[in-house]
Amino acid sequence: MAIKIITIDGPSGSGKGTLAAKLAQHYQFHLLDSGAIYRLLGLKLLKKNLLSQLDTQLKVCVQTAEKLDIEFKSIEDGLLVLLDGQDVSKEIRTETVGEYASKVAAIPELRAALLQRQRDFAVAPGLVADGRDMGTLVFPEAQVKLFLTASAQSRAERRVKQLQQMGVAAKIDGILANIEARDQRDTQRAVAPLKAAVDAKIIDSSKLSIDEVFAEMLTHIDHSFAISHSD
Ligand code: DC
Repeated sequence: MAIKIITIDGPSGSGKGTLAAKLAQHYQFHLLDSGAIYRLLGLKLLKKNLLSQLDTQLKVCVQTAEKLDIEFKSIEDGLLVLLDGQDVSKEIRTETVGEYASKVAAIPELRAALLQRQRDFAVAPGLVADGRDMGTLVFPEAQVKLFLTASAQSRAERRVKQLQQMGVAAKIDGILANIEARDQRDTQRAVAPLKAAVDAKIIDSSKLSIDEVFAEMLTHIDHSFAISHSD
């Protein structure tokens, strides 16, 4: 039986991460947080003093990406993320590391170096993959593709709340500016720009609660699985 794949793409703060985790739990599928992989590479390159030399040291950066020692472990209240055996779960969620990730993600050679690693997450019974190019490039064969979006303002408000819950002080203006700058970079870049796959279901979550979006997704996914089952 083919491995079932659900992709969720969309901009930062649209709620993808939360919903991907809920869907993985609901269907008992594996979970790929591809943004975390870009964040881990950004952090690793910073630690190796290579982040400011992406152009001149590209070969070494690609080798670093290929050898990246990372591990994801599901824990009761989320995901434990290890880099070189060390817990960096909290560190990779900061705005600063998000900026590193966005820089790394704009380099085609680094994206290519991470491609197979992401595809390796597709194991039985299924996978929920969250990112920017999951439905377009990494898993074009996915049975269900979702594109989750929301206005920049509502995403900034959610991000502030999320950071505050993690005990990180945050101001809305700075966060909004960061989100807009990152959107710009993610949608305008030449390689794998953020866009919905032609066969994706687009959901705007600006005025919806997580539970409402979740319910809409379940209806769509169950319907899609039922159709692909009867093919
Ligand atoms: O989803 P996130 O905020 O953790 O992603 C961090 C950065 O990585 C963001 O700038 C977009 C980029 N990214 C990407 O280009 N492709 C992916 N599949 C996932 C993330």
